[in-house]
Amino acid sequence: MKKSLITITVNDRQYDLAVPAHRTLLQVLREDLGLTGAKHGCGLGECGACTVLVDGTPVNSCLMLAVQAHGCKVTTIEGLAPEGRLHPIQEAFVEHGAIQCGFCTPGMILSAKALLDRNPRPTEGEIRSAISGNLCRCTGYQKIVEAIESASRTMAGSVTGEMP
Ligand code: FES
Ligand code: FES
Repeated sequence: MKKSLITITVNDRQYDLAVPAHRTLLQVLREDLGLTGAKHGCGLGECGACTVLVDGTPVNSCLMLAVQAHGCKVTTIEGLAPEGRLHPIQEAFVEHGAIQCGFCTPGMILSAKALLDRNPRPTEGEIRSAISGNLCRCTGYQKIVEAIESASRTMAGSVTGEMP
């Protein structure tokens, strides 16, 4: 089978890979690199469980071919806690009970991270819009929204020196 050579940076580590043209970014992350945080849900771009950041933008990695990520920087949920220390968004999800089965959580948190990176103090409506591509079958969303609001306060406070 013909393969293409690609170079991608995943969680600050560079990989040179030979991949078949049809292989998705999700398959490469999970099966070739062992990064199983991104989940395979629908495989159709509907659920957001496979969300990762590509050059800072949330994408459904089940729909992106690995060859399309050549030269890109990819962040998976593993990249948010590189030494086992949780990111403030992850801590907020734990503190607010925003996780039940956890299947949606990696994608949800990465969509939240992309939002807070570009808009540190979003409104509730902006939060709901940012996670509108991430389906959760468990929590009813309210606790997820509260967790993201809390993380925004904590992260903005750590930048400005305010108390969280
Ligand atoms: Fe990619 Fe559902 S698995 S959107
Ligand atoms: Fe179960 Fe969201 S916590 S799908």
